[in-house]
Amino acid sequence: MRASLTQLPAAQLEVDAVAVPVVAGEALAPSAGDLDQALGGLIRESLDAGEHRGRVNEVLPLNTAGRISARRVILFGLGPRADLDGQRLRFAHHELVRALRAYGHRRLAVLQRGAPGERDLAAVVEGCVMGSWERRSRQTGARPARIEELLLVGFGAGREREVAQALEVGDAVNQAREWQNMPPNELTPEAMAQEARRIADRHGLELEVLGQAELRAGGYNLLLGVAAGSNQPPRLIRLSYKGGASPAPTGDMRLAMVGKGITFDSGGISIKGAEGMYKMKGDMAGAAATLAAMDVIAGRRPPFDVMAVVAATENMPGGNAQRPGDVVTSANGKTVEIVNTDAEGRLVLADAITYALRHAATHVIDLATLTGGAKIAIGHAGTAALANDDTFWSQVEKAGERSGDRVWRLPAYADYRVLLASRTADLKNSEYGEASTITGGMFIQQFVEDRPWVHLDIAASSWNDNDDLTTVPRGPLGSGTRLLVELTELISSERR
Ligand code: BES
Ligand code: MN
Ligand code: ZN
Repeated sequence: MRASLTQLPAAQLEVDAVAVPVVAGEALAPSAGDLDQALGGLIRESLDAGEHRGRVNEVLPLNTAGRISARRVILFGLGPRADLDGQRLRFAHHELVRALRAYGHRRLAVLQRGAPGERDLAAVVEGCVMGSWERRSRQTGARPARIEELLLVGFGAGREREVAQALEVGDAVNQAREWQNMPPNELTPEAMAQEARRIADRHGLELEVLGQAELRAGGYNLLLGVAAGSNQPPRLIRLSYKGGASPAPTGDMRLAMVGKGITFDSGGISIKGAEGMYKMKGDMAGAAATLAAMDVIAGRRPPFDVMAVVAATENMPGGNAQRPGDVVTSANGKTVEIVNTDAEGRLVLADAITYALRHAATHVIDLATLTGGAKIAIGHAGTAALANDDTFWSQVEKAGERSGDRVWRLPAYADYRVLLASRTADLKNSEYGEASTITGGMFIQQFVEDRPWVHLDIAASSWNDNDDLTTVPRGPLGSGTRLLVELTELISSERR
C-alpha cells in the first residue's frame, strides 16, 4: 500500500472511494464540508435522518452519482469520543478497509475525524494497512481486491516521515499475523530461525541459533524438556542489534525482547482436548511480535542495544516426551517439577531469559501466549501484564497507549509465590488453580534475577476468536508488535 498526505479538498480527489469518519453524537468532520457541498448536502442529510449513527464499525456507502470523481463516499463509525483510544481508532480503520473489500476499490481517501489528535495519523495509516491483511493466504481461488493507494485528507502537511513509519509498523504487525496464521507444518522451529536469518541479513544483525547440541551444552534443559516429545528440533534464536556505545557505559540499557515460540502446543502428555486444538498453531505469537518488531527497530537504529530472543519448539506427546512428575534443572540451576506438561511456555521462557541475561540484558520484556486465564481475566481487548519495576512498567504502559496496543498490569502479590512451591523441587510449573495468568508470570519472574522485567500475556489479545466482540478484529492480531516498536522509540526519545 502506498500512502500520502494531500492538501486537496476531498471532493477533488481522484480515488474510488472517500471514507468519512463519524464520531457518535458529533457533527460532521470539518474536512468533509466541501464534499458534502459537492454532493448537495447528501452526507448531512443521511446523518440527520439517522441512517448512520457513528456506531463502531457501522458503514454506510453513499453513491456519488457522478457529482465527484470518487464512485462512493463511505461513512464509517468510530463510536463515542469518550471510548476512542489509539486501539479503537486503529481497529475502526481496520474494519473500514475490510468492509471495502466487497466493492473492489483500489484507491481510497480517508478524512481526519475533526478534533486533531497528533497521534491520529499513525493510527489511521496503521489501521488501514492492518485492515488490508488477508487471512485466507492458503485459499486457491481469486483474491479480493486490495487498497493500493491511500490518500490522507486533513492531517496537515510535512508529515511524510510519520506516514512512512506508520506504513512500516502496519506491515510489521501484518507480518506477525501472517506468522501466527501459518500452518504449523510449515512454520516449524527451524522455519522461525530462517525468518530470523532474513531479518539479520536485512539489517546486518548478529544472529545466533542454538540447536540441540548447543542447548545441551548450555544446560537449557527446560527448553529441551518441552522439545523432547517432538520430532522437530528446537531452536533458541537471538538477533542482536548494537546501538549502544562500546564499551558500554555503566547504566546503559540493553533491552531483551523475549518471545514464546511454541509452533504447536498439543499440551504434551497433559494433552489438550481436540476441540480448538488447531488454534495452538498460534502459540508462537510472542515470538512473531518480537521478530516483527525487531525488523522495524533495527531499521530505526536506536542508540542502545536491543536483542530479540525466541524460544522455538513444538510441545508434543511423543515417546520421549517429558512426563508430569519429571524434575528438570533449568539453565540457571533451579530445579522444576513438571506437574502439567501443558504449562510449557513458562519453561521455555525461563531458559530463554537465562540466555538473554548471559548475553548481558539489563531489561527484559517477554511476550507469550501463556495462559487461557488471560481470556478470563481481561479478554481479547487488551494484554494482561505483570511487572517487577515501576519505572520500566510506566514506559511499557506509555508505549501501549501511544501505539494503541493496550496493556493492563495485574498484581504480583507475594501470596501467590506459595503456589509455585513444589514438594520435591525448587519450583513447580503449574499451580493450585487460581490466578493462573499471574502465577504463570511469577514463575517466569523467578528467572529474571531482579532485572527490571515486564511480562505480557498475549494469549487472548493476540487472537480474537469471540464473534461477539465485534470491536476487535477477528483472528490473529499481532499484538505486542506496535508496543515494542513504540517502547524503543520512547526510550530513545528519553535519552535525547
Ligand atoms: N498456550 C497455552 C495458553 C493458551 C490458551 C494460549 C488459549 C492461547 C489460547 C499454554 O501453554 C497453556 O496451555 N496454558 C495452560 C497452563 C495451565 C496448564 C497451568 C492454561 O492456561 O490452561
Ligand atoms: Mn500449553
Ligand atoms: Zn502454550
